[in-house]
Amino acid sequence: MKKILVTGGLGYIGSHTVVALQSKGFDVVVIDNLSNSELSVLDGIEEISGTRPDFEEIDLRVKEDVVSFFKRNKIDGIIHFAASKAVGESVENPLLYYENNLNTLVYLLQQCQEHSIRNFIFSSSCTVYGEPDTLPITESAPVKEALSPYGNTKQISEEIIRDTCSVDSNLQSISLRYFNPIGAHESAAIGELPKGTPQNLVPYITQTAAGLRKELSVFGDDYHTPDGSCIRDYIHVVDLAEAHVVALQRLIGEKNTSNFEIFNLGTGRGSSVLEVVNAFEKVSGEKLNYKIVDRRAGDVTAVYADTQKANDELGWKTKKTMEEALSSAWSWEKKVRGLK
Ligand code: NAD
Ligand code: UD1
Repeated sequence: MKKILVTGGLGYIGSHTVVALQSKGFDVVVIDNLSNSELSVLDGIEEISGTRPDFEEIDLRVKEDVVSFFKRNKIDGIIHFAASKAVGESVENPLLYYENNLNTLVYLLQQCQEHSIRNFIFSSSCTVYGEPDTLPITESAPVKEALSPYGNTKQISEEIIRDTCSVDSNLQSISLRYFNPIGAHESAAIGELPKGTPQNLVPYITQTAAGLRKELSVFGDDYHTPDGSCIRDYIHVVDLAEAHVVALQRLIGEKNTSNFEIFNLGTGRGSSVLEVVNAFEKVSGEKLNYKIVDRRAGDVTAVYADTQKANDELGWKTKKTMEEALSSAWSWEKKVRGLK
């Protein structure tokens, strides 16, 4: 049985990926420092899969702890989710972001070399495309100047991996550029648990509907889009999680065409903020309080993925609808808040 290290495996996308890996027969060990997650996520994972993954509470910034972990564990592949991800915080505290998102990557890649671990999957983001020149966005679209230190860490991380792969033919890596992950596992045993005020649209919507927030602010209705609000590609987190398993199987089966590959992970469909609000009201039966406010600094008008490469080469495509994603996000929010 292949043993896969999932860093940040108690976080939002990581926890769903642990479940997806377990369902395909992988043995999973999670590293997380609980900086943006809780130990109880292990219970949720076990509730779904029947198996509690091995867990080590390690801060990946502590190099000697990383070195010690790899001395004690024989690992066949790594999926590296652990990172800090709040764009605004990264502007205020860039060094936290450069340390947490880059040092940890370097330490892990060093261990890949030290222990001849071949397979490495990295969590990247569509933020690397900035405001795209054409839509939908293909993987060959240019990487634009980053709008935040967070975005910059994703660009630099991809360069670090590319440079390492170019001199180490034993290492093979896939960088997955996520569009906008939303939703939760259908069991409502795991989901997104933002600390403090949510920055992202869907958790803000569900918390407003649950009564934790007074109203949603829709950031701008004067964009050059059909209804004036921004357009994004919202992908169900369970579909996203499955893509990681497929990418890992591609690496293990050596079906990759180069030892550093990049894939967009989205649905290929763009939805506006107001469309998401309307869809949420429909699936939840709740009336959502919202008001239109000024644009949010740094927002791009419209972003959605060209999914051809992932469809053709990974043999993966999304199966779930936005309605399913919003419904699962709402079930999760209600469970967390103890609502019926
Ligand atoms: P998350 O915060 O829910 O999960 C990240 C996990 O990593 C958390 O459990 C956190 O405690 C852990 N962690 C952070 N720093 C660590 C460290 N130094 N050592 C050990 N553990 C550490 O985030 P997520 O939404 O699941 O995102 C996962 C990855 O995907 C991140 O790299 C993120 O940048 C990337 N990504 C996320 C989105 C999104 O919208 N959620 C979009 C694009 C890319
Ligand atoms: C976020 C991240 C980005 C990441 C991307 C992919 C920020 C600033 N950016 O961008 O780095 O790569 O996800 O997952 O966090 N909106 C509102 N009201 C709200 C919240 C959001 O109207 O309260 C709107 C935004 O203006 C945007 C859309 O909803 O048009 C989605 O916002 P969000 O969930 O923050 O995602 P992105 O802006 O795409």
